[in-house]
Amino acid sequence: MKIAFFDTKPYDKPSFDKYGEQHGVEFKYFETKLNEDTAELAHGFDGVCAFVNDTVNAEVIDKLHELGVKVLALRCAGFNNVDMKHAYGKLHVLRVPAYSPYAVAEHTIALLLTSIRRIHKAYIRSKDFNFSLSGLTGFDLHGKTVGVIGTGRIGRVFIDICKGFGMKVLAYDKFPAKEIEDGDRVRYVELDEIFEKSDVISLHCPLTDETHHLIDANALERCKKGVIILNTSRGALVDAEALLAAIKSRKVGAACLDVYEEESDLFFEDNSGHIMEDDTLARLISMPNVIVTSHQAFLTEEALSNIAETTVQNIVDIFERGQCPNELCYRAGNTEDCKSGKCFG
Ligand code: NAI
Repeated sequence: MKIAFFDTKPYDKPSFDKYGEQHGVEFKYFETKLNEDTAELAHGFDGVCAFVNDTVNAEVIDKLHELGVKVLALRCAGFNNVDMKHAYGKLHVLRVPAYSPYAVAEHTIALLLTSIRRIHKAYIRSKDFNFSLSGLTGFDLHGKTVGVIGTGRIGRVFIDICKGFGMKVLAYDKFPAKEIEDGDRVRYVELDEIFEKSDVISLHCPLTDETHHLIDANALERCKKGVIILNTSRGALVDAEALLAAIKSRKVGAACLDVYEEESDLFFEDNSGHIMEDDTLARLISMPNVIVTSHQAFLTEEALSNIAETTVQNIVDIFERGQCPNELCYRAGNTEDCKSGKCFG
């Protein structure tokens, strides 16, 4: 099984080589992203392996199909970058539904603590032997209210961590999992209540048409003054310009962003020698109360190993058994992991 691997970074190769060799899957690594111009590179391959910022639109899918590529193995959970409807009947689309919810939830907490305890400021000061504490006053998380939107794998780990800090959790999910409710400590509410009562709001839902710009000017207007916005899910859940305006007006107290709406041409690359063309991102990064990391929440050794192991297993399943439980199935307007093995028409 020969797989063209797009958007390769040095940290991808060791685990993919290890699991690939064990199962007879051969990867050819391309540094370029998959898009309309690069799809041709998949000529002669059985499948392609893509990541979050690769473009898998109708044109790319048609090109891959023409080239005889059978499988699109996503090495991530989210699939908002794939035209699922168009892929139906042309490509088996496989994903890694969970690789380490701990990695993402722990990174979210790392960002929150960094922000509210001003660790990013203190680190730079003490490097310069400036041991002044002025301007570093933070606040306790204990007793504060956190609104968690999306209570799937990552959201639940994040909720457990917040409970450990003694925070009150208000949860919202399109499909609530009532078993996680815990008296006053964790309860499901409507989105309005999350906006009105939360000191911190953290996003852990997928990006869909419904959740696009979930945090927009209107939502921010309804939030408490000083609210902290955490987004380690997908950039377009937040209207970045509305967020910037709310930071400037002091409505938002801080924002921690591991993802950004227009990240695809910027994140994962060293742009330090370039003029930053994206004024919104540049202005956000210039703010003392905004912390941006470049989609690194997943990046732990455990997650990388799990991603490679599951991706290779997915490829083996589909080629050797003709079905894979992690195949995304577009049927009657629904996309879900396939339980029947009949995704392909
Ligand atoms: P999951 O599928 O386990 O949970 C997602 C939850 O969102 C589900 O409970 C679902 O019911 C809920 N949901 C769906 N539509 C919703 C809506 N309209 N409103 C509210 N909730 C809704 O997914 P998981 O593993 O927890 O991942 C969550 C998100 O985290 C992914 O979609 C992905 O975008 C992001 N992610 C980010 C990473 C990073 O490195 N920054 C790494 C991995 C995932």
